[in-house]
Amino acid sequence: MSTRRYAVFGHPVAQSLSPRIHAAFARQTGIDLEYTAIDAEPADFVAALERFAADGGGGANVTLPLKEAAFALCQHSSERARRAGAVNTLTRNDGHWHGDNTDGVGLVRDLTDRQGLDLRARRTLLLGAGGAARGVAPALLDAGVEELIIVNRTPERADALADALGEPERAHSRYWESLRDEGDFELIINATSAGRSGGHLPLPSTLTNSRTLAVDLSYGEGAIAFLAWARSVGCRSVVDGLGMLVEQAAESFRIWHGVRPDTDAVYAALREQNAILVTAD
Ligand code: ATR
Repeated sequence: MSTRRYAVFGHPVAQSLSPRIHAAFARQTGIDLEYTAIDAEPADFVAALERFAADGGGGANVTLPLKEAAFALCQHSSERARRAGAVNTLTRNDGHWHGDNTDGVGLVRDLTDRQGLDLRARRTLLLGAGGAARGVAPALLDAGVEELIIVNRTPERADALADALGEPERAHSRYWESLRDEGDFELIINATSAGRSGGHLPLPSTLTNSRTLAVDLSYGEGAIAFLAWARSVGCRSVVDGLGMLVEQAAESFRIWHGVRPDTDAVYAALREQNAILVTAD
């Protein structure tokens, strides 16, 4: 049987750890596959994906800023992808792309199973309303957070995400400027890409208390600014997105290959080289 082809599409994508993670899962499970990173600007994404399919591509991960575009091009999508309005996992079936979203389950698995944190009843602030925020928001509601307040630099996107979630009692949008009046939160999730582009997030210290868990969905350099802020204002735990990255990859791997790989060894190896943080307790 010929080697199965997979890839991650994004822009930029050269630094992605996904090829390493999927190669490690493939070794572990004895599955013969090729997994590469393909840089695609938004305007070229659909054409690049079609070329990939024509060359035998069987599945793809999608990262920023293409997750909402990936949802739009799918002929079929899972319920969790539809709730998110964003896709990070594409599977080629009968000449069509099937979309799924493993970000949310990846985040919740990392925080609950690996870090041993309880998300239930946490008053939660979600910063951002792009593809990453859309991916995790439904899973946070399913995990039992008490309230989900969404703020975004462009407020209309926060409104649209809150509407799409369809739980007006628990999930609502607010203006960034009104954060100072929102009180404190037990969970703050940075789903913006500001840290990766050197942007500054204006965040008042009134958002946190001594129990607050701060999570950045980025890892490496991109997570530094937000998590440094979280530490400086006394958050109890700070967690970057490395564990989520490994867990969402494992769930994509399961979708494509029918086997769930063991993530602990892969996470430990990556953590050694991305030692920025994790101070969960
Ligand atoms: P991703 O897949 O990482 O979510 P995206 O869909 O491009 O990528 O979304 C990026 C998110 O980061 C958006 O919420 C964006 O806010 P806008 O909707 O206003 O563009 C947010 N973001 C990026 N840079 C930011 C900055 N400097 N300050 C605040 N928010 C920022």
